[in-house]
Amino acid sequence: MLLEALKSLIVPTPRFLRTMGYLSEVIAIESRYHRRKKDWHPHIEACHKAILRAVDRTLQKTPDGKGRKIVILGGALLYDIPLDRLTEAFEDVILVDLFHLPWIMRKLRCYDNVRFMMADLTGCLQDYHHVIHAARLGEHIAMPQKKPQLSLLEDQNEVDLILSVNLLSQLPAVPLSYAERKLGEKSIIPEDDFDAFADHLLNTHLEWLAGQKADICLISDLEKIHYDREGKALTREIMIEDRLLYQHGFQLDSEWFWDIAPLGEVSRKFSQSRKVVSVQKTI
Ligand SMILES: C[S@@+](CC[C@H](N)C(=O)[O-])C[C@H]1O[C@@H](n2cnc3c(N)ncnc32)[C@H](O)[C@@H]1O
Repeated sequence: MLLEALKSLIVPTPRFLRTMGYLSEVIAIESRYHRRKKDWHPHIEACHKAILRAVDRTLQKTPDGKGRKIVILGGALLYDIPLDRLTEAFEDVILVDLFHLPWIMRKLRCYDNVRFMMADLTGCLQDYHHVIHAARLGEHIAMPQKKPQLSLLEDQNEVDLILSVNLLSQLPAVPLSYAERKLGEKSIIPEDDFDAFADHLLNTHLEWLAGQKADICLISDLEKIHYDREGKALTREIMIEDRLLYQHGFQLDSEWFWDIAPLGEVSRKFSQSRKVVSVQKTI
């Protein structure tokens, strides 16, 4: 815990993102990954394979079998990204996230074609932080409805492939749990407003991706399943309807289960698994 707190201090990031819990979330993933490396291996491997299939599909269309730019959204610790292969296959590899961890950036210094970009892929987070702050003071402001502001990326017309990796479900999850922590039961913001905001975040990300002039590979968890000690499913919660992906023109590539919290990780009584899919869209 102390190490996690110290690590978070050296990451340059705007204060509101820190307050909302983005940094602690990523640092907690790093610790959990090290504790659960063996259990997570099939998921990490499935992500790598799905990405490599997408890379092959894209490169088949290029005249010399080499790609120009690949953009990776929500790369964070890059466990689920086969970075070696991507840096060989593309001239430029652009990592886009809310912030970049200095110790990961240091590790990547050996690649001279990796670039870092900081952006809020929702375009809404700062305004949303303000909405929650105001609600704590008793003022009800409407939820932000902005679209992603990614002019930096849109200026790049040579992008061949965009990866959105284990990011989609995080887009609403982190803001909603921030509101729950800060406002609790006494929230003056109706539940429906949060539901509509979550839908907005999911839809605008998918719309934005689907509108890009590049191939897309999106990997996301869609469902949470809790199992008892005997492995019997206790609860299933759909986090994202799969039809949302298909409505935006994505096609199923593969699906698998991610044993994100085996017995003992969050409870001795139940384990948690996630249904994950990779979907694709080619131009
Ligand atoms: C669960 S992690 C992805 C796992 C990661 N690929 C790995 O292997 O470490 C989600 C990432 O999405 C980023 N993220 C979440 N919301 C974002 C937003 N609105 N804009 C940009 N990045 C965001 C987080 O900062 C985090 O790095």
